[in-house]
Formats: sequence, C-alpha cells, structure tokens
Amino acid sequence: MSLEEAIARRRSIRNFAPEPLSQAQLSQILWAAQGISDTQGKYRTVPSAGATYPLEVFVVCGENSVEEIGAGIYHYNRDSHSLTLHYKGDARLELARAALAQAMIYEAPVDIIICAEYEHTSRRYGDRGERYVHIEVGHAGQNIYLQATALGLATVAVGAFDDEQVREVLRLDKQYKPLYIMPVGRPG
Ligand SMILES: Cc1cc2nc3c(=O)[nH]c(=O)nc-3n(C[C@H](O)[C@H](O)[C@H](O)COP(=O)(O)O)c2cc1C
Repeated sequence: MSLEEAIARRRSIRNFAPEPLSQAQLSQILWAAQGISDTQGKYRTVPSAGATYPLEVFVVCGENSVEEIGAGIYHYNRDSHSLTLHYKGDARLELARAALAQAMIYEAPVDIIICAEYEHTSRRYGDRGERYVHIEVGHAGQNIYLQATALGLATVAVGAFDDEQVREVLRLDKQYKPLYIMPVGRPG
C-alpha cells in the first residue's frame, strides 16, 4: 500500500475480530511506533526533540492474542527489537476499566501503551519539554495508525483514561506516564 493510500484509508476502528495477530504483524507495529531506523542504533522511526527519546512502549496481550506469545504485559526493547515479559497474565480487562470501560481495549487481542519519561526531554528543554513530549507521542501514534492500515489491521488512539490507574495496572514505576493506549487487531 502506498503512503498516500494508507493516509487516505486510516480510520479509527473500534471493533476487533477475536483472532490472534501474527508475531510479524506485532513486530512491524512496534517497529513503526518506536523502532530503530539507522545502522548505528541512534535514531528511531519517530522524530524526537533533540533526539532525547522520552517514549517507552508496552504491550498488553491476552492468551492467544499473538501467536506463541503468552498473556502478559511486555516492554518493547527497541535496541534489540524484542519484548521482555514485565508481568504475567491478561491485564486487558483491568486496563479497559482504567479507561472509562472502553470495551475495545478488552476486545482487541493487543493493546499498545505509549508512556513517557518526561525527564529525558525536560532535562534539556525545561518546561518546554512537556510540549515536546506531547507532540512526539502524536508522531508515534500516527505511525501506529498508518502501519496498522498498511497491514490491513485496525486501531484507535485512546486518550481517555485515569493515568494513575493505568500506571498501576501496568505495574509501572512513577516516572512513567501513560499517554496513549492503542488497541490493535484484525478489524471485526
Ligand atoms: C488525543 C486523542 C484522544 C483520543 N481518545 C479517544 C478515546 O479515548 N476513545 C476513542 O474511542 N477514540 C479516541 N480518539 C479517536 C478520535 O475519536 C478519532 O480520531 C476521531 O473521531 C476522528 O476519527 P478518525 O480517527 O477515524 O479520523 C482520540 C483521538 C485523539 C487524537
């Protein structure tokens, strides 16, 4: 699919088929969200103010959500393009409850959560760093939208949730602030 077609076709989709994603599909989505895109491992698929890179990506999977990946909360390691199990078990229902009970978060096989460590950017840019982090998460979200569209998958950017509850569901340290939840799956 051309970039123009992906932009034209991109839509927020809130209905998901109860079918697993392939590892290749999840891998491609994560790479688009925050993967490394140069040979030195210095730059990523998403622009970042001063290359300060404040974003961290987590994945919530149910059982049989992704082929050969168990239910759990995973951290995306962009350097090795791999996932590390952060917490075992299906957290999708808890996550949906923390997001005004938006059912698609529970129904999608996978939820991508983009979090920020503001300190990475505010250390260099002071108060203006906050603005830069928010702009940057928009870039990452759009990459996920366009990559999902190009793969024939569905997603929606979710910003309505209780920050603290989401942080607790994901068992994240205080420095991580969740900014977007993006359920991903095959369209229902
Ligand atoms: C910052 C932001 C927050 C959003 N939060 C939600 C949300 O919590 N739940 C939801 O269903 N859609 C959410 N959306 C998706 C919008 O509703 C959607 O983009 C809008 O209706 C336009 O539709 P389109 O994306 O299909 O073009 C959000 C979009 C943005 C940019």
